[in-house]
Parts: sequence; structure tokens; C-alpha cells
Amino acid sequence: MHAVVLLAWCLLGAVWAIAETLLIKGGTVVNAEHQLAADVLIADGLIQAVGRDLQAPANARTINAAGKLVMPGGIDPHTHLDAHMMGTISCDDFYSGQAAALAGGTTMHIDFALPSNGDLAAGFARYQAAAAKSVMDYSFHMAVTSWDDKVAADMGELAAAGINSFKFFLAYKGVFAVTDAQLLQGLARCKELGALPMVHCENADALVDAQERVFASGVTGPEGHYLSRPAVFEDEGTARALRLAEYVNVPLYVVHVMSGGAADEVARARRGGQRVVGEAVASGFASEERMVWDADFRVAAQYVMSPPIRSPEHQRRLKAALAGGMLGVVATDHAPFNSSQKRLGLGDFRKIPNGVNGIEERLHVTWDALVATGLITPSDFVRLTSAAAAHAFNIYPRKGVLAPGSDADVIIFDPAAEHVLSAASHHSRMDTNIYEGRTVRGKVETTISQGRAVWEGGALKVRPGAGRFIALPTGGPLFDGLDRLDASYQHRNFPYGATPVKRAAPGETKS
Ligand code: URP
Ligand code: ZN
Ligand code: ZN
Ligand code: ZN
Repeated sequence: MHAVVLLAWCLLGAVWAIAETLLIKGGTVVNAEHQLAADVLIADGLIQAVGRDLQAPANARTINAAGKLVMPGGIDPHTHLDAHMMGTISCDDFYSGQAAALAGGTTMHIDFALPSNGDLAAGFARYQAAAAKSVMDYSFHMAVTSWDDKVAADMGELAAAGINSFKFFLAYKGVFAVTDAQLLQGLARCKELGALPMVHCENADALVDAQERVFASGVTGPEGHYLSRPAVFEDEGTARALRLAEYVNVPLYVVHVMSGGAADEVARARRGGQRVVGEAVASGFASEERMVWDADFRVAAQYVMSPPIRSPEHQRRLKAALAGGMLGVVATDHAPFNSSQKRLGLGDFRKIPNGVNGIEERLHVTWDALVATGLITPSDFVRLTSAAAAHAFNIYPRKGVLAPGSDADVIIFDPAAEHVLSAASHHSRMDTNIYEGRTVRGKVETTISQGRAVWEGGALKVRPGAGRFIALPTGGPLFDGLDRLDASYQHRNFPYGATPVKRAAPGETKS
């Protein structure tokens, strides 16, 4: 790098390190538990005070938030930045994907680190290196795609390094999928570590069978992806994963619930007392199934993701499950592949890289679909888009709430503004947008990350390297009291926590 540029960069870095002192005045503070009229004082990257009529310190910049909602920055617990998948690399890296996130009000994400040739530790190292250019706080889940003693040992090492969740795929046979036997080992190891298992639920064998049948029938386009992944495969996978987690007595996080039946399975498990978090993704309830039938491959292929975007009736049930508390988190599964990457599957839908955009649009489409329609309240919105992920991944109340001492990750939201979503104006490197042309109600006007206004007046002010890896501790709230549950499980004929009945040896007499 040219010396002058380097000097300017270092100076910028030094200035950057000085956090702003900000007073957000006159807004309505919305947390997951309640909302109130209050000011928010930010200094040193933390929230210093939330209350009425706060006085601005001499060095403070005041932001007028009259008529606006002041909320915790979004946490997207499901993204795939710089992901090496399906023969290509997702087109947003940790710079562009996070810049897009900040422009849409998301201030932290948890990405899925994939093993490198089956090696978890090497995979984590690669993702950590890729994330060095981060502009906001981030963490990782680790995918477990095979099983042996080294994998089990690496899970322990990673847990010590700040990874408190592991994803298992039932789908993607021959690439990521694990068998039931491997899943059981993984669930038990997660329980031992106090780490949350996450499962992608679709029946791998049925999928391969269906893909072959659909392809053999002459359907080779993107609609073949949809036709070969019926809801029953997802319903079955979800039911199976939930029952195996019940057997092991470990909490479970079901990623990207896309079918009404899978949402019902999550609800059934919760009703039965299981500790389950069901994750919806924005595309699952706010995108359109019909688009995958578009005559233009470029249009249709951008909607290909797994499990697939389903019918309006499934979407209605997902929204009802979010409103009713059966599904507890809204994420995105942002796995961005541009149209030239999607063309890898021209002529064979099985080769279309799976994934859609969303990291930038999540808050807006969720507000538009759920709050603006009256299905949920602003506090529910904060719970679904921020607080619940902070609880599940054990960083609450550092994140997910506006309270003294919390990280100053804050958004200022104008519920009265409208704007149009488009690839022409978004910040992702995607050349398409599954929400193209959609007008949404509500707008993130300002995003504050680590105490700095990084999105303001339609401009991004981000610096590569400013983002921090947030180590997530194991043994979160979902694990509280699990040992006592194990003890009570003995009465239900479950082997976990079993202790032998003390019986007299033959010949001994009872005293
Ligand atoms: O289509 C999807 N969901 N792509 C990302 C990988 C995954 O299964 O989450
Ligand atoms: Zn890479
Ligand atoms: Zn998945
Ligand atoms: Zn995913």
C-alpha cells in the first residue's frame, strides 16, 4: 500500500478508536419486555443511561429521535458470508455482508463456519481469518459434518474458544449430511459441553430419490428444486431431530423452519416441555414461492434455497407461529450467490447454489409483514430480531437490550417512512434481490455499532477491522436445570441420567 494512504488509514483507525458520545433524545425506547419514552446516552461504546430528560455531556452529539423508535440493533443468527459451498464462494465477504447488515439495522451476526476437509479447527481458523475485515461484531456456529474422536475433541476446543453452538445437517447427502447415529453422538457431545445443537431438518435419502425422479421426468430448471423438496421431508426431519433431542434431553435449535408442519412439530415439542428454539427466516414468510416458476432462469434461480420457499398457506402458518410464540427467532440464512454463480445449475437444478439474500432486508420485511400488519407488537419485533438470539446464544444482556452497561448497538427506526428494496440500492454484492421493487413500511434511519453512528443520512461509515469476534460462553440459559430434568427422566424410561436400583444380593436378607 502507498505510504501516504497507509498513514491516512492509520490516522483514520486512531480517530475511529475514539468512540462517540451520543445522546438520542425524545424517542420511544423499545425493548423486548416493554417500551417507554426515554433518552439514551452512549459513551465509550456502551449504553450509559436510559431515562427521561437526560442532560447532554459537553462533548456529546445530540440526535433528535422524536417520533422514532430506538431499539437494540438486530442480531442475525444465521448467515453464510465467504462460505465455500456447492462449488463456489458466497459473494458477500465479511466486509460487504456486514456493511449491508448495518445499512439494514443489524449490528451483530453469527455465521456458520464450515469444516475444512472435515477438520473443525482448521475450518474455524479459516473463517476467523476471513472475518479479519469485519466492520461489526460477529461470532460463529460450527458445522459438524462427520464424526470421529477428533471431531468430538475439536468441539471441546472450539467451545473453549467461544463457539457455543454446532450445526448438524440432515440434508446435503454426501457433503454435509450426518446419519442419525452421528447426530446422536453430536447431540450427546453438545449436551456435555453445554453447547446448543442446531439442525437443518430435511430427509436426505428421500431428497435424493425425489431429485432423481424429478430430473428423470425432464424437469431440469429451478422449479425442480422446489418439486423435489416437499414439505413432508422437512416435517419428517424436524420430527426426527426433535425426538432424538428429547431422547438425549438436550435443548435444540431448529434452523430455517419453512413448512407449517415443521412449525407444528416445534410447537408440539414445546408443549411437551422440550427446550426448543424454532427459527424462521425472512424469506420463509416474506418471499414468494411462485417466483421459482419464472420463465427467466436468472429470476427463478435466485429464489432457490433449502428448504424451499413454500406456498402462501405455509407462510401464513409460519407468521402465526411467530405471533403465537411457537417460533422464537427471525434470522435470514443470508447465503448470497449472484446470477453468474446461480448459472452453475443451468440445465440441472441440483447444481444451483442454494441460498438467498436477506441480511440487509430482514428487519424491514419483518416489520412490514408482522408489525405493520398488526400481527405482533414492536416489543415482539425486538424479541424476534434481537433479544431472543442474544438469549439463545448466551450474550444477553450485553446484546439484545437497551440498558445501562449493554453494548451500544442501537437503531433509530422511523415507522412512518416507506422505502423500496432493490438490488440497485442495496449494499450487498448480490446483483439480484429477492425483494426487488417491494415497498416496505418503516425504515432504519440510523445504525449505531459499538457506540458509533455507522449508518446515517443514507451513508455508511464503516472501517474494515473494526468488527470484534464475540466469544459466546457455553452453558447458557437453555441449559439451566438440565441435570435436574435428567434425574426426573429416569421415571420416563430414558437412559440419560440412569442410576441402578439397589437390590439385595441373592441370599442376603432384608434387615
Ligand atoms: O439454501 C440454503 N439454506 N443455503 C445455505 C445453507 C443452509 O442449508 O443453511
Ligand atoms: Zn474465502
Ligand atoms: Zn441449512
Ligand atoms: Zn443456512
